[in-house]
Amino acid sequence: MRRGANRHAALWICLQWPQCREDIMSPLTMEKATHYELRLAERMSRLGTETAFEVLNKARALERQGKDIVHLEIGEPDFDTPKNIVEAGVTAMRGGWTHYGPSAGLPDLRQAIAEEVSRSRGVPVSSDEVVVVPGGKPIIFFSLLALAGQGDEVIYPNPGFPIYESMTHYLGAKAVPIRLHEDRDFSLDVDELAALITDRTRLIILNSPQNPTGGMLSRKDIRDIAEAIGDRNIMVLSDEIYCRLIFDGEHYSIMSLPGFKERTILLDGFSKTYAMTGWRMGYGVMRPDLATHITRLMTNSNSCTASFTQMAGVEAIRGDQSSVEHMRTEFQRRRDVFVAGLNRIKGFSCRMPRGAFYVFPNITRTGWQSKKLADALLEQAGVACLSGTSFGAYGEGYLRFSIANSLENLNKALERIDQWTKKNL
Ligand SMILES: Cc1ncc(COP(=O)(O)O)c(C=O)c1O
Repeated sequence: MRRGANRHAALWICLQWPQCREDIMSPLTMEKATHYELRLAERMSRLGTETAFEVLNKARALERQGKDIVHLEIGEPDFDTPKNIVEAGVTAMRGGWTHYGPSAGLPDLRQAIAEEVSRSRGVPVSSDEVVVVPGGKPIIFFSLLALAGQGDEVIYPNPGFPIYESMTHYLGAKAVPIRLHEDRDFSLDVDELAALITDRTRLIILNSPQNPTGGMLSRKDIRDIAEAIGDRNIMVLSDEIYCRLIFDGEHYSIMSLPGFKERTILLDGFSKTYAMTGWRMGYGVMRPDLATHITRLMTNSNSCTASFTQMAGVEAIRGDQSSVEHMRTEFQRRRDVFVAGLNRIKGFSCRMPRGAFYVFPNITRTGWQSKKLADALLEQAGVACLSGTSFGAYGEGYLRFSIANSLENLNKALERIDQWTKKNL
């Protein structure tokens, strides 16, 4: 499969958009605009971000100055979307699938997802329990919007995908971190989880395989978590977007446990499994009464997910799956090389991630703080990666590398980091 050579270029164009807009604004319009103070809603001050995009921006600026950078910051597959899926999308566009569709998604796609989830999670799911949305992220946003109000508590993994914390804060709910422990292979301590659950807990977010650590929740972990929740009326948002990218062990969903189907919102999608990040398509599986409300949020925001994209989604699920296995084995090969390489570098120690496409080494023995080290590696060694603190306070002491890059570039990054540490540590 050919690698997606232009993916960073496309991202870069989006990131440059504010600058382009400034270029085309007449001086008169700009001057006028400054007469009016920008009065943002108070909640905007609570909105966080995903640092990966900022680091990419910085790396591109260095490239413009002539520096050579190895990009290990962005979390998206470096493969092109498989041909059969692209063809299905093009055929759909040509066939007139260019209009609004139902807010919850096209019936054919919802049915395909229901069958796939029933098979893979071992629980019967019907199409009215599926809501298709533009990416996995809207399921996070909509679940929080629907379930967490002012003062409600949301327990989320830390280090973890930063959007959980950001959106919880934004909505005025209380974000309660549950720490992931390196010595537990980045799983959580169930006793700690049990101690965090209160009468105000409305939602517990789980993510396995996990971004940024590559850790996974075992069958036993999931059973213990379910036991800690007991029969409390608490919903679980189970983010399973990396469930097809597993190297060691098996995927297990809390949705499969008795009594949890009606308390789980399963998040999955196409971005990572089928290298479809730019198509914007994901889905949530949940009880039908909640699906109705999440669908209302879709009607109020996006109207629907693009119809031709959804037609491509039907092909992704029902068509040939060999590309998924090809990507998975390629990521595994890179993981093995990159982790072994990091473990040879002074001050770095790295566990073997079991899924997803991230590597999360412990760098405490370098004596450097994560953010400072990530900045130095970018500016002085030409390797773009993320500080562990981009994923929450418990990410201090770690860096995150995305291995969505060629083996050649991964080896180049290892060599550069090694040289840099020899000079500076
Ligand atoms: C854990 C996790 N959940 C959700 C998403 C969102 O995926 P999408 O690009 O489909 O919105 C990501 C993307 O990086 C992720 O890492």
